[in-house]
Amino acid sequence: MSDRLRSSPAWTGAAIAAGLLGVAVALAGRLDLPLILAGLGAICLGGWLGGRGPVQAPPRPAATTQRHAVAEALLAHVPDPVILVDRRTLVVEANPAARALLPALHQARPLSFALRDPEVLDGVEAVLSSGLPRRVALSTRVPLERTFEVQIGALPMPDGSGVSALLFLRDLTSARRLEAMRVDFVANASHELRTPLATLIGFIETLQGPAREDVPARERFLEIMRVQALRMTRLIDDLLSLSRIELREHVAPTGVVDLGALARQMVDAQGPPAEARGATIGFTDGHGPYRVAGDADELVRVIENLIENAVKYGGGRISVGLSREEDPRLGRRIVLSVADDGPGIAPEHIPRLTERFYRIDVASSRARGGTGLGLAIVKHSLNRHRGRLTIESTLGQGTVARVSLPEYGAAHAGPAAAGQAGPP
Ligand SMILES: Nc1ncnc2c1ncn2[C@@H]1O[C@H](COP(=O)(O)OP(=O)(O)O)[C@@H](O)[C@H]1O
Ligand SMILES: [Mg+2]
Repeated sequence: MSDRLRSSPAWTGAAIAAGLLGVAVALAGRLDLPLILAGLGAICLGGWLGGRGPVQAPPRPAATTQRHAVAEALLAHVPDPVILVDRRTLVVEANPAARALLPALHQARPLSFALRDPEVLDGVEAVLSSGLPRRVALSTRVPLERTFEVQIGALPMPDGSGVSALLFLRDLTSARRLEAMRVDFVANASHELRTPLATLIGFIETLQGPAREDVPARERFLEIMRVQALRMTRLIDDLLSLSRIELREHVAPTGVVDLGALARQMVDAQGPPAEARGATIGFTDGHGPYRVAGDADELVRVIENLIENAVKYGGGRISVGLSREEDPRLGRRIVLSVADDGPGIAPEHIPRLTERFYRIDVASSRARGGTGLGLAIVKHSLNRHRGRLTIESTLGQGTVARVSLPEYGAAHAGPAAAGQAGPP
């Protein structure tokens, strides 16, 4: 007998009636016709009464199987983890996303074996006893730090075996990360502006008070104030460029530019200031033109930032070069490289260099007029141009920054290739 039949109230009623008949026979000590008729009547009555309950006739098996398959396929394609547990919190069903997140999740095993979070387990108990939906937060630390919102709802089982609980886990990790980045960004930008502002205010007060009549001190202080004001201007310029580039990030550039000509222009412009810092910039022009679809102003900023970094943090001999490469996936690309023979960058810093305000040594970046936004601007500009940035470095030997962009007019350049090292 199947579970459904065993639990049917109709059969329970019939069984009770049959039991009563048995008792009556035992008490009367005989079995005559009126008693048999009364007994059969009681069985039918019991069955009929019980049959009026919530359980309907079982659906046709073929239809049930088909609907079950559809439900399972649907569940398998839900990208968020979904888990169904019965009233004893044993796992009834879990989709692949749930099993991937909680490898210890197995059918007919307690949910607590796979998910030990007390808040979620208490939530499930509460939903099972009250029937009211609940939302709780869940954070995992291993293998990755992730945050979920768990929606728990009560679900009456179609076979009448009571109420079960459905857990739906919504991944909030990236939303939380973006929010944290926004908060960090505002805090960093305010801090970067507040520092020179505090210096300016300090000197203004000194000039208004104790140093009012001190002419040499006034000259010195005014120079410091100029440097600080310039630093604030640079920071605001960088912040504005970054937000402008981000706004246009999804609009493909319409112009066509020769990257070789832009690079030469920048090498010529940056040569003298580099020499003043004791560095020389060499330029290897290959077989141009190196045409790319792009916005000349943005690409000039990209090249400028990379050469500037090589001068500021690398020094010595800097070489800028252009070449072509054939990428099996992305097609023909133009590659601009900026190499220096400076102190290099430790590998743990490299993936983070394109983060806003990330600097290996904040004081030395500030002393060289850095804002920590240069490579973030480079990265966002390249996203717009379907370009890539790679930075390779060996401590004590130097750094090579490479930018690759699809060659204009070359055969299909593959799918949009905006990805590169480091988060936004
Ligand atoms: N060629 C390089 N050699 C060594 N360090 C570098 C080089 N380029 C960049 N860096 C490091 O990366 C950090 C981030 O660069 P960037 O985003 O351009 O900011 P900024 O130049 O304003 O400091 C720099 O502060 C520096 O520490
Ligand atoms: Mg820079």
